[in-house]
This record gives sequence, structure tokens and C-alpha cells, in this order.
Amino acid sequence: MHLADRLGRPLADLRLSVTDRCTLRCSYCMPEEEYRWLPRSDILRFEELVVLVQAFVECGVEDVRLTGGEPLLRKDLPRLVGMLRGVRGLRELSMTTNGILYAPLARELKDAGLDRVTISLDTLDPARFRALARRDGLDEVLSALEAARAVGMRGTKIDTVVLRGVNDDEILPLFEHARSLEAEIRYIEYMDVGGATQWSPDKVVPAAEILATIERAHGPARRVDVESRAPAKRHLLADGSVFGLVASTTRPFCSTCDRSRVTADGMWFHCLYATRGTNLRELLRAGAGTDDLRRAIVDGWRERADRGAESRLEQAQRGALAGRDDLLDNPHLEMHTRGG
Ligand code: 5AD
Ligand code: SF4
Repeated sequence: MHLADRLGRPLADLRLSVTDRCTLRCSYCMPEEEYRWLPRSDILRFEELVVLVQAFVECGVEDVRLTGGEPLLRKDLPRLVGMLRGVRGLRELSMTTNGILYAPLARELKDAGLDRVTISLDTLDPARFRALARRDGLDEVLSALEAARAVGMRGTKIDTVVLRGVNDDEILPLFEHARSLEAEIRYIEYMDVGGATQWSPDKVVPAAEILATIERAHGPARRVDVESRAPAKRHLLADGSVFGLVASTTRPFCSTCDRSRVTADGMWFHCLYATRGTNLRELLRAGAGTDDLRRAIVDGWRERADRGAESRLEQAQRGALAGRDDLLDNPHLEMHTRGG
């Protein structure tokens, strides 16, 4: 199906959050002491998730990425992976994880049919990890990266959010570490998404600056995959290593965004910055089959005109998207609910 939104963008990539809970409390995502969690009874069951994914795939989605919070906090995740692998027409099933719980499950997840993982890693220093994520866990994350390689996962990526004055001195060590693991690192600009209550423009390290740092150490980098719709702009160095830059804050890529997100309780959001979503859980629980869901998805996508990051850039005074009280009122605004 060739489905286009109001700006001509196809529906191709779905982020499926399977839980809003997380094992970490990263300062750019969950800096608060208190959160309001989604009611347990609202969390979609595996069978419901399969019906939903089937409907999205029939509408043109090719790639599904499991996310959270931390997806591995969801009990029996390998079983869900196996069930989703049975969805006809699904090309790639991947997962974004903070790595804490991954190593012991790496084999089982791969055998169940998980194609790729992206593991977050913002620092190589244990004390800094604790300060940034407000929990211990660097050893587990490093083991996760080893485990991905050991079980033969291909195309493993490392996601690094660069924060001014926090980890911007680790751009090169993280690059070396990724290279030693044959994983591709992607540097992500700090975004003013919901949940990032401590965001301010001076804490953003622009992708252009990250590029300059890498080129100073490793020589000129050449852009590759220029045609790709993926947020990460990939760059190739003379030695053959590749890294990605996600300039979501300074140079948003809304015009090519083919991605949408479903929260663990079945709310469908067309944009990371969207304040309203479509309640697919209600439809599902009212007995909708894939046909009804497909209709809702097609109708919703045709109406989509979101360009959240670009609109944010156009604002003169830019601060956090939502304050602490807004987030307690409406947890669906949270990045950890919506999925990274
Ligand atoms: N800015 C950029 N990326 C963020 N993530 C969460 N919050 C932010 C933010 N404010 C992303 C990171 C992290 C993933 C889980 O979500 O990529 O690795
Ligand atoms: Fe950190 Fe990811 Fe958890 Fe947010 S969801 S606190 S970014 S590990």
C-alpha cells in the first residue's frame, strides 16, 4: 500500500513501546524523582500487539523497533519477538535498549528472530555513568555490547546523546570503543522532547561540532547514504569506519520523517512532539480486527501534518517542551512513554 501523509511522507517505520518503565534515570530523559506510570490494565497484551503490528504492516510499515522505557523490563520479551516474527510482510524487527538486561537474553532474543539491536552508551566512565543515569550499570552495558557481537548480531548500533559539559569530552573515546566492537556509533543531539525538563539550548552540542571533533582526529569524513530517510546522517572515514550524526535539534529532518510511535497502552503518535494521539487500544478492545485498525491507521496517516522538531526550531524562545506538572498530568508526553 502506498500511503502518504499531508506532506507526502510514507508510513514505513513503527516504534512500538512495550513498557513505560525503565531501569535507568538518564538526565536527558527521566530527570525527575516522581513519575506517573501507565495503568497496568491498559498495557497491551502480546496478542494485541501482534494484531496491531499486522495492521500497520498491511498499511506499509516495513520495520518495527521495540522500545520502552526499557523494553527488556517487559516479561517474556523473547516470546513477543517470536510472535512478531510471524507477522506476514514484516521486514525487520529491531530493538532499542539501554543494555542493562540484555546480555543474558542476547542468544534467546536472536534465536526468537530479533534482527538488530541499538544499545545506548553515553560514557565509558563508571562514576559518570552513575551521575548521568542515576543508577549503576556501565559493566552491564559493556557486556551487552560484547554479547551482541558474541551471538552474531549484525548491524549493532550504539546511541550516544552528547551533552555539553557532561560527556562532550568522550566523543573520541566512545568512537574508538564502538570501532573496537565493530558497532556503528550514532551521536544524537540533546532534544527538547517531553521529559527533558532540564533541556536548555546551551547544553546542546551541535552535530557539526561533533563532526569537526572527529575529523580533527581522524581526517575528513565523507557523507554516505545521502538518499536515506534515516535520521542518522552516516559518515565514512578513510579507514573504512562509519559513524552517524543525528542533528534532530539543530537540523531537523521532519520533511523525510516516515516514523510513528505506539505507546505500551496503544496510543498512536505521529510525531515525537505531538500532544495528541489516536487511541488504538480502545479500538482493539472494542473488538476491532485488522480491517478496522487498518482503516484507522490509513485515515490517521492521511491527516498527518506534524513537523514537530522544525516548529520547535522556528521558536525564538526555546525551553523544555513540558514542565514537571504537565508530565504528571499527561504521561503520554514523556519520551520514555513514547519510546526513544
Ligand atoms: N534527547 C535526545 N535523545 C533522547 N533520548 C531520550 N531522551 C532524549 C533527549 N532528550 C533517546 C536516546 C536514548 C534513547 C533511549 O532515547 O537516544 O538513547
Ligand atoms: Fe535512559 Fe532510555 Fe531509560 Fe530514558 S528510557 S531513562 S534514555 S535508559
